[in-house]
Amino acid sequence: MSPTHRKAWLRSALAALLGGAAALAAAQDMPMHHPMAGPGTASAKPDTRILVKFPPRLRRAVLATMRMHLQGVSEVQQAMTAGRYGDAARIASMTLGMSAMADGQMQQEARYMPAGMRQMGSTLHMQAGEFVLAAQDAEATGDTRKPQVLFGRMLQTCVACHASYRLR
Ligand code: HEC
Repeated sequence: MSPTHRKAWLRSALAALLGGAAALAAAQDMPMHHPMAGPGTASAKPDTRILVKFPPRLRRAVLATMRMHLQGVSEVQQAMTAGRYGDAARIASMTLGMSAMADGQMQQEARYMPAGMRQMGSTLHMQAGEFVLAAQDAEATGDTRKPQVLFGRMLQTCVACHASYRLR
């Protein structure tokens, strides 16, 4: 996929997951950056995301992790809809938590990430951890609102990071 197509695909995939209201809320929270939005930008809107350079192998590993994240949130969503909160917790900890990443990948990534991006990465994993605990509680208590709220908040971190950074 071309970068433009991938971006459009990513945007629609995440928009579909988030639903209108949450997406709007996330859009209002997004940090805005305006570097190098000069002439020669092919798409209708200039790409204002910060370009982060990773070594090719690490970039491939990160994008694979990202695809696992998206598959994870899709499966977590399905499990929650079916009322299977214990499964939702298990899937989230396997695909979105700290343990979801290959040994050493995190330290590798951190070396190349700007501070703001690193911060959003650790926010994601922290929010995933909170979601896992809330979903485990919901399994026991039947109180499903908290994990649902935390899940939406976590997705906003995916959206915020994608709005700010791209990889090369
Ligand atoms: C710390 C920043 C950050 C967070 C948090 C983050 N991503 Fe990403 N993600 C990126 C970057 C950067 C790219 C590459 C985008 C580009 O180059 O156009 C990316 C790409 C992707 C891709 C495309 C993968 C591919 O093969 O091209 C998917 C899917 C994705 N992310 C899903 C997610 C999901 C789902 C979440 C939340 C659970 C998430 N990401 C959280 C930074 C992040």
